[in-house]
Amino acid sequence: MTLHTFHCPTRLHLGRDARHRVPDLLRGRTLIVCTPGQWARLQADAEPWWPREAAVFAEVTPNPDLDALDVAADALRGQGIEGVLAIGGGSAMDAGKALAAMLGTGGSLHRWFRAGEPIPEAGWLPVVAVATTAGTGSEVTPFATIWDTARMRKRSLSGPAAFPAEAVVDPVLMASMPPAVTRSTGLDALNQALESVWSREATPWTEALAARAVALAMEALPQVLERPHDLGARHRMAEASVLAGVCIAQTRTALCHAISYPLTLHFGTPHGLACAFSMQAVWSACAGADDGRLSRLARATGHGSVEAFGSALAELLERCGLSEALAESLPQDHAAVLALVGEMHAPGRSDNLMVPVTEAVLAEVVKRSLALS
Ligand SMILES: [Fe+2]
Repeated sequence: MTLHTFHCPTRLHLGRDARHRVPDLLRGRTLIVCTPGQWARLQADAEPWWPREAAVFAEVTPNPDLDALDVAADALRGQGIEGVLAIGGGSAMDAGKALAAMLGTGGSLHRWFRAGEPIPEAGWLPVVAVATTAGTGSEVTPFATIWDTARMRKRSLSGPAAFPAEAVVDPVLMASMPPAVTRSTGLDALNQALESVWSREATPWTEALAARAVALAMEALPQVLERPHDLGARHRMAEASVLAGVCIAQTRTALCHAISYPLTLHFGTPHGLACAFSMQAVWSACAGADDGRLSRLARATGHGSVEAFGSALAELLERCGLSEALAESLPQDHAAVLALVGEMHAPGRSDNLMVPVTEAVLAEVVKRSLALS
């Protein structure tokens, strides 16, 4: 008998118009954290569901920067902020978590990540995370990715305190997502579900949830790309994303994410595309050593065999335009990508795969991915 743990303390509100519950979830003086574009959309909303009297940090950037967040926290200290309302995709939620940690504990990112001070495990402000994209799952995970661009490092703020208190997932907020964001975030959701399946930490529970996430994402992702205002399809994609988030909260991500971070740092490749880049090659690498989990996933998602699932995955990525999107966000020179293989060994991720990842395996996966892209 194997001992499993499963921890998800975040209360989830998923469904059409869930955003209108937000006022009942907030306690005390609130800080809204979002991008400038999101802030403009909030102000134009005919039916406001966010607190008008809140403090606002509406300067979140696509890959939240360590120094910029430290400056923001310093400016916000002493304002009596008691909770964070993060609204947006992964960047807004990760920035919200970082600000909740700093404002709640008095610490700072440079002290934790550059001076090596321990990150407090308690005392963070409560976060209400409102997802406007279907992909990152950050609304239900204990992770926040912060980019130390000055030192070309990706940092991870993680631990139980990083779980949002409340997650609000409303497909209505996702209907206006631009196609490129829908594609990238949707691929992240699908990839995260698969990463949990081939993780060393997979359990029967995460396998079951991931199977539902994969089935939903494979059905709904082409639909939301073809019919952006189809709220039923947006709902299915949102559910896939949350389920995948719950799975990686237990298992962590694996090789595709390890490969993605240098691509995003060096070439600015959007996160979901950078993760999807190696998805087929990693599936193939695991298929050769399947201990039964890939077969179970293939059957549970109606594909019959590991080979049939691999073909369906390739077809789906083609239909979603992955190759074209990667052509625009990766260098044409394959040598520039291969030069990063050494940086793609990320402890806790590249070695969190069901098969051992040697330097040779990693290089082969990257070469195969380049050939497919
Ligand atoms: Fe991800």
